[in-house]
Amino acid sequence: MNRRPFIAGNWKMHKTGQQAVQTATRLAELCSDLTDPEVMIAPTSLSLPLVAKALENTPVKVGAQNLHFEKQGAFTGEISAEMIKAAGAEYILIGHSERRQYFGETDESVCKKIKAALEAGLKPVLCIGETQEQREEKNTYLVLDKQVSNGLKRFGLEELSDLVLAYEPVWAIGTGLTASIEQVAQVHKHLRSLLEDLFSKDLADRTRILYGGSVKPENVKDLMGIEDVDGALVGGASLDADNFINIIKYNE
Ligand code: 13P
Repeated sequence: MNRRPFIAGNWKMHKTGQQAVQTATRLAELCSDLTDPEVMIAPTSLSLPLVAKALENTPVKVGAQNLHFEKQGAFTGEISAEMIKAAGAEYILIGHSERRQYFGETDESVCKKIKAALEAGLKPVLCIGETQEQREEKNTYLVLDKQVSNGLKRFGLEELSDLVLAYEPVWAIGTGLTASIEQVAQVHKHLRSLLEDLFSKDLADRTRILYGGSVKPENVKDLMGIEDVDGALVGGASLDADNFINIIKYNE
């Protein structure tokens, strides 16, 4: 199955609007001759419309980092899927471990957010991952299976045709620790067969599964060489365009 490789940058809570536009513009310059992989950056919501405008007619796509599942209303401080879409985003990160850890995100809210995203025409990137403790207790698959099945249980095959899954072991995020090639290979293989069990072989074959957690220019090639790894979700190493391009062009 030919899955288009996908390299995404999650800028988390970094960069003012002006700084984000500067980095995005530089990244677009560096990507001007790019056909593969597909590239996306997720700036803060404040920077998103500015970055989307700066990236018009370039190969670099834009995503958001979070949304509220309601369409509108008295939800101070929140933004809806429709607003994000109108601001120029194509993708949306949902269920990032930092949101689960610090902002009370649950599988239930993840599921509602995916529904809202799909209704607004945003492509969801469902983020999942186990903590160090869960791994040590040998509960990795239990945790991941629950995150995937609870997050996706309401949806049918057709709705999930643009789904992207991102496996980000919590202990590897921002720590400099990358999961070993063997660990990543095992989990990604497991996730693909889980998708097959839950949905269909076709959906499992088509769905791109990204790895995230301390991805950098030095390790991206080995990670992308793993059979079931279709891309990377990059935090820290995506903040500088001249560094990020070395991850994007991992094959050169
Ligand atoms: P780092 O690449 O900084 O470890 O972050 C990974 C991540 O959380 C991307 O969503």
